[in-house]
Amino acid sequence: MEKNFKRTTVTSALPYANGPVHIGHLAGVYVPADIYVRYLRLKGRDVLFIGGSDEHGVPVTIRARKEGISVQEVVDRYHGIIKDSFEKFGISFDVYSRTSGPIHHQFASDFFKKLYEEGKFVEKVTEQFFDEATGRFLSDRNIKGECPRCHAADAYGDQCEKCGATLSPEELINPYNAETGNPLVQKETKHWYLPLDKDQEWLEKWILEEHKEWRPNVYGQCKSWLDGGLHPRAVTRDLDWGIPVPVEGADGKVLYVWFDAPIGYISNTKELCDARPELGSWETWWKDPETRLVHFIGKDNIVFHCIVFPAMLKAHGGYILPDNVPSNEFLNLEGNKISTSKNYAVWLNEYLVDMPGRQDELRYVLTANAPETKDNDFTWADYQARCNNELVAVYGNFVNRALQLTQKYYEGRVPACGELTGYDRETLAEFCGVKEKLEALLENFRFRDALKEAMNLARIGNKYIADCEPWKVIKTDPERVKTIINISLQLTANLAIAFEPFLPFSSKRLREMLAMDTFSWEDLGSTTLMQEGHQMPKPELLFTKIEDDAIAQQVKKLEDTVKANEEAAYVAAPVKPTVSFEDFEKLDIRVGLVKACEKVKKSKKLLKFTLDDGSGQDRTILSGIAQWYEPEQLVGKRVLFIANFEPRKMMGEESHGMILSAVNFNGDLSVTTTIDDVKGGSQVG
Ligand code: MF3
Ligand code: ZN
Repeated sequence: MEKNFKRTTVTSALPYANGPVHIGHLAGVYVPADIYVRYLRLKGRDVLFIGGSDEHGVPVTIRARKEGISVQEVVDRYHGIIKDSFEKFGISFDVYSRTSGPIHHQFASDFFKKLYEEGKFVEKVTEQFFDEATGRFLSDRNIKGECPRCHAADAYGDQCEKCGATLSPEELINPYNAETGNPLVQKETKHWYLPLDKDQEWLEKWILEEHKEWRPNVYGQCKSWLDGGLHPRAVTRDLDWGIPVPVEGADGKVLYVWFDAPIGYISNTKELCDARPELGSWETWWKDPETRLVHFIGKDNIVFHCIVFPAMLKAHGGYILPDNVPSNEFLNLEGNKISTSKNYAVWLNEYLVDMPGRQDELRYVLTANAPETKDNDFTWADYQARCNNELVAVYGNFVNRALQLTQKYYEGRVPACGELTGYDRETLAEFCGVKEKLEALLENFRFRDALKEAMNLARIGNKYIADCEPWKVIKTDPERVKTIINISLQLTANLAIAFEPFLPFSSKRLREMLAMDTFSWEDLGSTTLMQEGHQMPKPELLFTKIEDDAIAQQVKKLEDTVKANEEAAYVAAPVKPTVSFEDFEKLDIRVGLVKACEKVKKSKKLLKFTLDDGSGQDRTILSGIAQWYEPEQLVGKRVLFIANFEPRKMMGEESHGMILSAVNFNGDLSVTTTIDDVKGGSQVG
């Protein structure tokens, strides 16, 4: 059912202020939301884009303890970094506020109080895990224990990262405090619950029948929650960071972060509208049925935005419900999961330093490869290829040719358009249809396909100018060249409009190069945007190539993080069963002097050693360490080897003994030696 809305309230998930934001955030939520909002604004629609930091919850408290600073310091720091990154990436929020501020605290507290007073909650006493040593109840994330499914030793209270099982803390075997290792006990505590079971019926009708148009991933997740049957959910927690529960006898309890954070969308709107009365009352943006509400989120947020928050709004009364919740799937990074806690990510604040001025490049790649329907992988190789082969070689190249030729032949003035050929008409016709195509895609949140359409325009332009070869025709038919350039400039102006929602920085630069001071979405498809005689300044390149070095550095940065994580996570293997001295003495370990060392033909692993073992005769030993050493490195070195190891044949060679190597945490091998110069054949014991 298409409804005619007067205005749109667009929200994007409030990121946790427990770390900077990374490319996964940008790809999943903020770039798509920004594209949508910029498009609506260009169309002259009434829209507000609401953002802010989510500063409550457990992750910020963990970060604070880890860094030894106060929670307020943590959220102050990351709120600042996040806000700055968003600004620099052109995420055009109308407001970017925070949930630790007084306006939000008051608003969320009042919201809870109204529901409480109207008897919308149920009170329940349950047993929760408690750490007697610290006097704290623990959140699911703070509890670890043995996984009941795969028996990994360190599964979280809500999930096992090894086997992926969703867990609840009572299921863990021998639960302990994840931070201190203290064992936990169960203790009674009272909380307030939103009885979602009572919302089952209307939610089923509202989502499953009336919102079949939602993305399949969103609809599917809602359906599986609803099919499983909804249960009451606690909206309070035992925690010392958050919004105090505004009820007597609730000391030490705060609103659950997922209760207060979505209310942040509303309180942030209020903050904005109170400061800017021309926007009207915040209530118009949240209560008028002619307002369309759209939430941009990542897939781990679906249940909260499609089920819990709507149930809260309904319980409160007076609010509109979301009309759509375009959620993306996840973006992986070089084949691995992005992780804030493991520092495995491309952080936006670091990208801005490492790749200065290249915000549009990242916006482009993240949209072209957006995880709209399935998880996707970001790789630096793909980033480089898309930048160089698409932005530089197609879009940039076309624009540059059109503008340079205008400078060269007409001193930067738009030449007159003469008679059109059939090919000219065909080319222009493709541009005329694009407005409708783009609109249909953008209105349906298909940003990836929409970007492809925009890029396709650039391709058409690039092909047009390459086919027409004005640089050759100028010698034979200069009048014709005027028309070719005129058409190329019309196409260029169209690109500046079509790309504006996606690549706002380069669109702005392009408009400056075209000296195009007004533009609107409605102009898209027009073939008379650039008037004859219009003067343009000297152009610059719109995009520049990304060099291999820059990419290699980024890849190395990630590899180093993986290594550091592996090293930090390394636990030495358990000690083997005890052996007697007699058993030990059976092994004849000796020092050997490496006289020669070479690769074994056809083997990637083996090196062949010739050792002076003190016997006066050369000893041959094969060892599987070719991956870690060049043979020359080892010549002249002393190595430890087992002299009475039974001879074995490998790759047609007989090996007499075994060279001892240490296995590093990451599987790398390191040959053992003696500290001092010891004669070949000396015994080790
Ligand atoms: N902070 C949450 C996350 O990063 C998202 C909160 S969205 C809101 O997953 F609706 F609660 F604001
Ligand atoms: Zn498991």
